[in-house]
Amino acid sequence: MATRIISTGSYVPEQIITNDDLAKVVDTSDEWITQRTGIKQRHISLGENTSELAVNTAKQLLERAGVAADKVELIIVASVTADYGTPSIACMVQKEIGASNAVAFDVVAACSGFMFALSIADKYISAGIYNNAIVIGAETLSKILDWSQRSTCVLFGDGAGGAYVEKSETDGIIEEELGSKGELYEILTEGYTRCSNVFNDIEEGTDSLWYVNMDGREVFKFATKSVVKSVERVIAKSCVSPQEIKYVIPHQANIRIVEIISNKLKIPYEKFYVNIEKYGNTSSASIPIALNELNEKGLIERGDKILLTGFGGGMTWGTMLISW
Ligand code: COA
Repeated sequence: MATRIISTGSYVPEQIITNDDLAKVVDTSDEWITQRTGIKQRHISLGENTSELAVNTAKQLLERAGVAADKVELIIVASVTADYGTPSIACMVQKEIGASNAVAFDVVAACSGFMFALSIADKYISAGIYNNAIVIGAETLSKILDWSQRSTCVLFGDGAGGAYVEKSETDGIIEEELGSKGELYEILTEGYTRCSNVFNDIEEGTDSLWYVNMDGREVFKFATKSVVKSVERVIAKSCVSPQEIKYVIPHQANIRIVEIISNKLKIPYEKFYVNIEKYGNTSSASIPIALNELNEKGLIERGDKILLTGFGGGMTWGTMLISW
């Protein structure tokens, strides 16, 4: 038994911020951002919160799959920018789409979040506990960016993407791997909440930890190393050769990272689906937004072998080989 993607969807806020727009607020340039990252623009929310992006994606998934909301059994949303500490985004999605019979919860695995969420859904479905699931990655990273920090604010964007999956007797997820390296957690953090109350002093010097803080070079090294090894292990465990893979959908963080991964894996760059120029890094939403774009363009056919691979804060990574 396998878990198969039945429909894909995505939603991004309307407002586009170009590199030139950013150059008006921080000391940067279109040339620097394009050369170092491949990003040309990103979508930024002017008020819609993460749950609203996720709800729009969920509605699209159900419409495209032709499934009624009350038939959905599981909703998992991956995010590091939830509207609330509680409720989960998934519970808010459940209410808004009317999926009254579903179990709903969120997972936190940063930019690998969609891979973790899809893997969890697959486990429930493979175990025969649920028959289907909505899996979404959704982020409004703009609310956790320090817009005066050129080293981080140029990299990220807002958006959501997802998949509706069902139990399948034939095609579906073939092989996968998730990984975590907690000892490196400090190289990429955001959203620190202080432990302060009337009985102790406010923790000093932690205000900036609310925002994305990153050692870019260390993250770069981690990404190129962990993704390559993970992809090699997943391919080795499967009966699929690298030549049989039609598309690789990498996490869209930096075009140079994708080029290095392609070189090291000896998988031609043309097989990598890249849309970072339009969206920037949308964290957990990046892989499903790219997958949906590929699908909407009609570039995937039944039985095609597609490899999804991502890395992110934690540090974490996740790779999945799918027979479409
Ligand atoms: N515009 C112009 N100059 C900038 C800039 C910007 N937006 N951001 C940084 N710089 C400057 C730096 O201040 C530095 O200047 P200096 O040489 O005078 O000190 C110079 O550019 C080089 O900075 P550096 O950080 O070494 O650049 P880099 O080539 O490592 O690229 C990243 C920076 C962030 C693009 C790159 O390290 C990266 O992509 N890392 C991985 C990040 C990632 O994937 N994060 C998400 C994980 S899910």
